[in-house]
Amino acid sequence: MVIRICMGSSCHLKGSYEVVEKIKALNIENLQLYGSLCFGKCEKGINIEINGKLISNVSPENVQEIVKKFIKEGE
Ligand code: FES
Repeated sequence: MVIRICMGSSCHLKGSYEVVEKIKALNIENLQLYGSLCFGKCEKGINIEINGKLISNVSPENVQEIVKKFIKEGE
């Protein structure tokens, strides 16, 4: 699983660092976690990309649910 998290200033202000911590806490096997430059969709941030799929409106509160759903659906 490859996850990219927007580290642009808008997403950063909304808590993308916390999102990173929440993802790390899931201890996902073979996870490749990257920071990314602004995805250009700041108004919909926090934005992350899971296996190439862009997901908007992510927050520290909902990110674990979102990632788990991806894992359950076989990525
Ligand atoms: S700062 Fe995250 S999409 Fe622009």
